[in-house]
Amino acid sequence: MPRLVVVSNRVSAPVDENVASVGGLAMALSAALREYSGIWFGWSGETAETFTGQIRMSHTAGVTVATVDLEDQDIQEYYNGYANRTLWPLFHYRTDLTAYERSFDVGYVRVNARFAETLLPLLHPDDIVWVHDYHLIPLASELRRRGCMNRIGFFLHIPWPARRIFESLPNHRELAASLFDYDLVGFQTRDSLTAFQDYVVQTAGGELAPDGTARVLGRSVKLDAFPIGLDASAFADAAKGKTAATWSERMTVSQAGRRMIIGVDRLDYSKGLEERFLAYEQFLATHADAHEQVFMLQIATPSRDEVDAYQDIRARLDAVAGRINGAYATVDWVPLRYVNRAYRRDELAGFYRSAALGLVTPLRDGMNLVAKEYVMAQDPTDPGVLVLSKFAGAAEQLADALLVNPHSREEVSDAISRGLAMPRAERIRRWETLMQNVITQDVTHWRDSFVHALEASPNASSTPALV
Ligand code: ADP
Ligand code: F6P
Repeated sequence: MPRLVVVSNRVSAPVDENVASVGGLAMALSAALREYSGIWFGWSGETAETFTGQIRMSHTAGVTVATVDLEDQDIQEYYNGYANRTLWPLFHYRTDLTAYERSFDVGYVRVNARFAETLLPLLHPDDIVWVHDYHLIPLASELRRRGCMNRIGFFLHIPWPARRIFESLPNHRELAASLFDYDLVGFQTRDSLTAFQDYVVQTAGGELAPDGTARVLGRSVKLDAFPIGLDASAFADAAKGKTAATWSERMTVSQAGRRMIIGVDRLDYSKGLEERFLAYEQFLATHADAHEQVFMLQIATPSRDEVDAYQDIRARLDAVAGRINGAYATVDWVPLRYVNRAYRRDELAGFYRSAALGLVTPLRDGMNLVAKEYVMAQDPTDPGVLVLSKFAGAAEQLADALLVNPHSREEVSDAISRGLAMPRAERIRRWETLMQNVITQDVTHWRDSFVHALEASPNASSTPALV
């Protein structure tokens, strides 16, 4: 079996599988790599005065991790800049928040070149290289330019936007061309796959073969959708374990007979948290009978806090949460418990299990693993109801959730009301179908289908795509 070399910006090898950094990519990759011999390469999360390319190797929980430090300028231009002030907002349809600065483009390409230069000496000729997410789109081009002949695949964890949105990027042609230096490009959903195919044909002048191969700019690249899944059995174990049970009991006591609605997210404007609070406010305004009977627990872990848009959304959420509690709280009822910290997976599992309703309402999301975790943690004899945004990638698979338009307060408020009133038989019927999907399309299925498709893809070439 060839070695698998995984490359991502953030590397988070779990010391304990219940403690991993917040974010779907880290959760999924640590699970995917545990059973493969290979390397996980990426940024250490540390800053160095100058970039030296010195690699730090460590072995934790069966995973070999190789990391490099980046310079402060790299972090500003590549991570806070092009990745999180240009690509992230644009790919989540927030053109109003998208910054177009040439220094960001330069920093982005420089860091990708640095990653390629540092990674290349670690590669064996028959290693399979699997690159992850929007931080590293040009990595294959940089590797190919340096003579790398390995099979290289790319998986995008976030949505691929509609053609006209992507075209608003000044260097969209160069960025797309660097995807053609991969052998396989994978997306979370059919929706993202179709949007990219549309770009390939309409803008890049390529052709699509019936087997999903795109021929474009002198290259052949296989394209497909590979919806990411949970490490379902590990999460089920966490949900059945002692910590989850302790937290579930603790929550039950603290609930004092009230029903809980739960939200768990990185504190990100794409997660629709402000809209969710406003929908809950609408629910409270129109359902006086629910007062003192229901409360919402929103866990939102601060993320990317050097980027203005994240500071702004945090301040807005503080204000809206304060307003809701100011308007509706009584001496012994807080309608919105708003918590800004991270929890262990087994603690989260306990919270999910105690909640009558999981509210997962991103405005756009590549997949959304929280939706799947909520399903996985439920009691089969008395499961809660999942309310899910139709703009989360997970909605393509989890059609038995109550699907909502997260922009509509009334629609989300109605779904909360319907979910809380749903008869047990309907909850069980819906949950069984959701659960079936979460279990069968888990992280192992995702990893194996991607790796097998990469092994079967047209052979790599060392010639960069013609732009
Ligand atoms: P994203 O990758 O955009 O953050 P996902 O929903 O796909 O979104 O993945 C988020 C992951 O991070 C989930 O596994 C979730 O459990 C975890 N997570 C989110 N918020 C917290 C938190 N407050 N504490 C611990 N883990 C969290
Ligand atoms: O899943 C999307 C993603 O951007 C991952 O690439 C990333 O690791 C995660 O969210 C958390 O973001 P960050 O690494 O910027 O903290």
